[in-house]
Amino acid sequence: MRSLTYLSLLLVVPQTLALKAHDFKTCSQSGFCRRGRALSARAREAGEKWISPYTVDPSSIAIASHQATFTAGVKSSLYPEIKFGLELRVHDDGVVRVRMDELGGLRKRYDEAASWALISEPVISKDIKWTAGKKDIRAVYGAKKENEVVVTFAPLRVALLRGGKEQVVLNGQGLLHMEHFRTKTPEVTHTEEPEPKEGEEIVEDEAQVVVKSENPRAWFEGDKEDDWWEETFSSWTDTKPKGPESLSLDINFPNHGTIYGIPQHATRLALPTTAGESPFFSDPYRLYNADVFEYLASSSMSIYGSIPVLHAHSAESTVGIFDAVASETWIDVAHASEKSTETHWISESGILDVFLMPGPTPNDIFRQYARLTGTTVLPAQWSLGYHQCRWNYVSSDDVRAVQKRFDEEDIPVDVFWLDIEYSEEHKYFIWDKKNFPDPVDMVNDVAALGRKMVVIVDPHLKRTSDYPVYKKASELGYLVKNKNNDEYEGWCWSGSSAWMDFFNPGVWDWWISLFKTQKLENGWSWTESTEAVHIWNDMNEPSVFNGPEITMPKDNIHHGGWEHRDVHNVNGMLYSNLTSQAVARRSDPPKRPFVLTRAFYAGSQRFGAMWTGDNLGTWEHMAVGVKIVLSLNIGGFSYAGSDVGGFFGNPEPEMLVRWYQVGAFAPFFRAHAHIDAKRREPFLLDQPYKGIVRDILRLRYSLLPVWYTAFRETSVTGFPVLRPHYVVFPKDQAGFDIDDQYYIGASGLLVKPITEKGATETKVYLAEDQVYYDYFNHHAYRGAAKGKEITVPAALHQIPLFIRGGSIIPTRERPRRATTSMKKDPFTLRVALDKTGTARGELYLDDGETYGHEKGQFVWRELVAEKPVKKARSVRIASKDLGLRRPGEAVEGVALTAFDPGNAFAKSIGDVRVEKVVVLGLNAKPTGVRVEGGGDLVWEYTPGVAAGEKKEGTASVLSIKDPKVLVTKDWAIVIEW
Ligand code: GLC
Repeated sequence: MRSLTYLSLLLVVPQTLALKAHDFKTCSQSGFCRRGRALSARAREAGEKWISPYTVDPSSIAIASHQATFTAGVKSSLYPEIKFGLELRVHDDGVVRVRMDELGGLRKRYDEAASWALISEPVISKDIKWTAGKKDIRAVYGAKKENEVVVTFAPLRVALLRGGKEQVVLNGQGLLHMEHFRTKTPEVTHTEEPEPKEGEEIVEDEAQVVVKSENPRAWFEGDKEDDWWEETFSSWTDTKPKGPESLSLDINFPNHGTIYGIPQHATRLALPTTAGESPFFSDPYRLYNADVFEYLASSSMSIYGSIPVLHAHSAESTVGIFDAVASETWIDVAHASEKSTETHWISESGILDVFLMPGPTPNDIFRQYARLTGTTVLPAQWSLGYHQCRWNYVSSDDVRAVQKRFDEEDIPVDVFWLDIEYSEEHKYFIWDKKNFPDPVDMVNDVAALGRKMVVIVDPHLKRTSDYPVYKKASELGYLVKNKNNDEYEGWCWSGSSAWMDFFNPGVWDWWISLFKTQKLENGWSWTESTEAVHIWNDMNEPSVFNGPEITMPKDNIHHGGWEHRDVHNVNGMLYSNLTSQAVARRSDPPKRPFVLTRAFYAGSQRFGAMWTGDNLGTWEHMAVGVKIVLSLNIGGFSYAGSDVGGFFGNPEPEMLVRWYQVGAFAPFFRAHAHIDAKRREPFLLDQPYKGIVRDILRLRYSLLPVWYTAFRETSVTGFPVLRPHYVVFPKDQAGFDIDDQYYIGASGLLVKPITEKGATETKVYLAEDQVYYDYFNHHAYRGAAKGKEITVPAALHQIPLFIRGGSIIPTRERPRRATTSMKKDPFTLRVALDKTGTARGELYLDDGETYGHEKGQFVWRELVAEKPVKKARSVRIASKDLGLRRPGEAVEGVALTAFDPGNAFAKSIGDVRVEKVVVLGLNAKPTGVRVEGGGDLVWEYTPGVAAGEKKEGTASVLSIKDPKVLVTKDWAIVIEW
């Protein structure tokens, strides 16, 4: 149960009590999905005889003067009078955008999904030229002219080729179908539908409407107007005033056997088959943002967010797809052979707008996708620390007491969170003064110790005239409308509620003004808040307890007259977008906002963090959470994590410890618990668990330089913070299915969080002939060129964490209460030599809070360990300025525009030094260690396995004490024999 406090509410909305699969549609209960799957079944049955009715009219081809775009008319032989327009463009990075829309139709299809997702209008290629022939139109491009797009006319087929091989094919199976707008024909008769009884499941396989006349289009479209004009699910009827407008398209990858992405689903990273007699899932992967209470740990069902981005991968190449559609979408996946994958995308509405990303490597796709939708935001540094949440800290004194206990136990934490109970009757922004009589003092008490608070603001507004936010929004007509064009009313935490319509641009400035902490001359603002308060946007799918599938009716109306069905999956993104702007802009100059969102779409990575919603305190949920977060990293949304401890339940200490290990290695690290769960803050644990969790948290804090550097990199290049095996070793087939171990950024740290009860050891896969050092005890393991599994200890206090040979890991090892106290702390460098005796790393620093980094206020160092050519018997460890980053790697549009070598931030940390250098894997005891141009250093050497040896065992360790080199300066330490 969500809460006893909400019993009265729950009586009204029994569907929120627990996951009942029948609260959510299966494909066969969703008219357009059923039609799409039936189309593909007919195609399969017809085999070779199945020919797509869609053809390009060659005489209509118009090539734009800039040559990279052409448009053409398309017709379906079934409906010769209906016109479709096709457009293909090639962007300057080789991405191909394919669009198709109905022209001059009875109504207009929704065509704005891409405009919410894209950062700007993509730049068109300058060196491409379409050549139209009799049967097709084609263009060759790429640095070595390796890519080719071919659009075949009859039937319409779009193929992207590389090296003469087809990589992506659209409509190769002939499943393209854009249902054109029609008028309801009088020849149809409705069969009577019996009223469903309470709780009765409705099987909707039978057509509701039968076409009287003989139907010549039946071979393709089926012989029934199957849920064209109305659809019933449980007790809800969706009126569908626009009639059928779904879009079906097959997208095949003839040379790629593995696919990843299309988050968010609770399943493996390498997506299992759904089509045919799949042993995994009977339904396609669904993208329809939904508040799936107690979601299943293995399912193709939708959960809270949707990113229609997919990587198709093989040892030879990777290609990607971004399908810019905002309506409910189902994706069937079939692994046609070991080498090829077929996907079938079925969307309820919207134009066809697909981006083909040519790769050819995973990193190329990350870059291509980032150029379209932007990169993960560089978060405020404090937000990478540990977040303590629960539903609820019940009073300001409760918050103070929790903070005190953390400090008494020396457990680091950066943020305390307040869930919905801080607010009076769930009128967000309005403090419940009974329990929070002094909110600003409370926040100041937290901020005085260098910490922040995050407070929840949900998108449902309590419909009561004593709530200024609702009252104003209602007066100004800023709320979503129902199908009759009246203010839509539904139920959520605040009882009878209405929803802000963020598609209305008029809302934007007003929403931003609400977060101002100063009193406004005209209008309400949140004066009982401070700059230390950041925001949690929950329930933005949107969750509506008494709505169909716990969300809004699809025939609700948004600004511009669009139905909710057209925009459902982007709706939640607009909310976190505006909230993050509001939080940034309440300070002058703006400071980096922190906004956590539950619902998301392609592009949401620009606005903050996400978490995986209401997971269960089970081992299965802990394990699948890791996979979901990896899949989000593939979908461009690196800043992700799951509720540590599990939202529901009371995890036993072992599970809680393991969950902290998982959380400490997730980009977003927050513990959270349901209102009915027992208190489980780390200081409440008994020993040894408390000590173990304290160590895990300290480890997270010591590694913050690695996390922050990884975030910097993703914010500039689009390369993800968490990198599963196929991203790092794209050619290693044996790693394609691995999704329980991963690398952190480019740091060289490899981690395998344990998600199994009673584990004492585990297997870790090493993909290369390289040395990997245990982070804690320096045991050197050896991989093999063909891949090798090693067995490593994994008792409860142990985290399998390794440094890949060839990496330099910067850490800050002084235990602190929060990140703010670490700003001037010295660094330790772990130099993990590779088998050739060299290593490399990076360290990025800025003030962690402002936008000064966009004006060149940062420090970006490259750290190297190299063997000087002249004196073979030495290693030189050096720190160099990376300045503006290696040219060519940054994503244009989001790249740095400046770097100021003598910047004020660098000066402010001018005295921050390196206090220790640990070199792993040297061949022999040095004869001397000195700073170049300076004096001899104090060091200690413990003999052990050298990086170049084939042996395993504890590595040799050279520990250099306090070399006094400064982190912002160029320097070198020379180790000699
Ligand atoms: C939703 C959220 C959960 C939160 C609760 C109350 O269930 O997913 O995290 O605690 O609402 O706000």
